[in-house]
Amino acid sequence: MKNIIEITDLYLEYDEKKILNGVNLIINKGEFIGITGKNGSGKSTLARTISGLEEITKGKIVVEGIELNNNNSQHIRKILSMVFQNPNNQIIGTKVIDDLVFGLENYGVSRSEIQNKISKISKELGIEELLYRNPSELSGGQKQIVAIAGVLILDPKIIIFDEVTSMLDNASKKLVYNQILKLVKTHTIVMITHDSRELIETERVILLENGRIREDISPDELFKNSSMLKKYNLEKPFKYIVLEELEKRGYKEIGDIYAD
Ligand SMILES: Nc1ncnc2c1ncn2[C@@H]1O[C@H](COP(=O)(O)OP(=O)(O)OP(=O)(O)O)[C@@H](O)[C@H]1O
Ligand SMILES: [Mg+2]
Repeated sequence: MKNIIEITDLYLEYDEKKILNGVNLIINKGEFIGITGKNGSGKSTLARTISGLEEITKGKIVVEGIELNNNNSQHIRKILSMVFQNPNNQIIGTKVIDDLVFGLENYGVSRSEIQNKISKISKELGIEELLYRNPSELSGGQKQIVAIAGVLILDPKIIIFDEVTSMLDNASKKLVYNQILKLVKTHTIVMITHDSRELIETERVILLENGRIREDISPDELFKNSSMLKKYNLEKPFKYIVLEELEKRGYKEIGDIYAD
């Protein structure tokens, strides 16, 4: 099956206010797709709806051939997980390690395997020293990394990351982003972000405006289109600033040593 997520004519209203306004989107299996748009454009709502956490007003969402409804959200959660923009929505245990153990225990993973997985992920994300802390006493960024670890450790096929690096310092951003890039090879990844740099490696970018998809384009097209970047409050990544400057001077690409 090539399509892993199919969203058809999706509408969502809160108190008669239209938040999602006729979204049609197909995400292919194994795709690395970016979603961006201004604050309030509906990105998180779309992500929560795909994750089965919102009641759909009209339209349908099919994940791996199964149409989302009230009865199958448990099943869908095994295939598709989301890391929330606000980590307070994600952490439940009284110790960080309990939170990591809990999901795996639910999946029937053995004690020794649980230990291996926890030590691997905590090393990769640099959270070894946080394992015995109470999540409610962690900083926002620390909570965010713990929430990311909690999803990655369960290894769902599809992961939606909703602005997960926005609270992190540069070193943690790098750790998390590098983990995501590793997953891209084997998983379907939806990256919601305002940070242009995190869209560079995606295969295509969806631009949302007022709960509608306005553009579905390659990151290269997006980053070469200054007026589109401005419209959606996106910065031009450094690589594209350099490329533009080289072009102005007659060079064709980075690495070209003679200008025309
Ligand atoms: N629980 C809610 N009740 C009513 N309106 C809501 C609720 N959650 C979100 N909204 C509204 O839905 C719209 C879309 O919000 P959403 O959080 O999906 O935007 P977003 O694109 O993720 O924004 P941001 O970039 O700030 O994260 C906004 O106008 C917001 O005010
Ligand atoms: Mg959001």
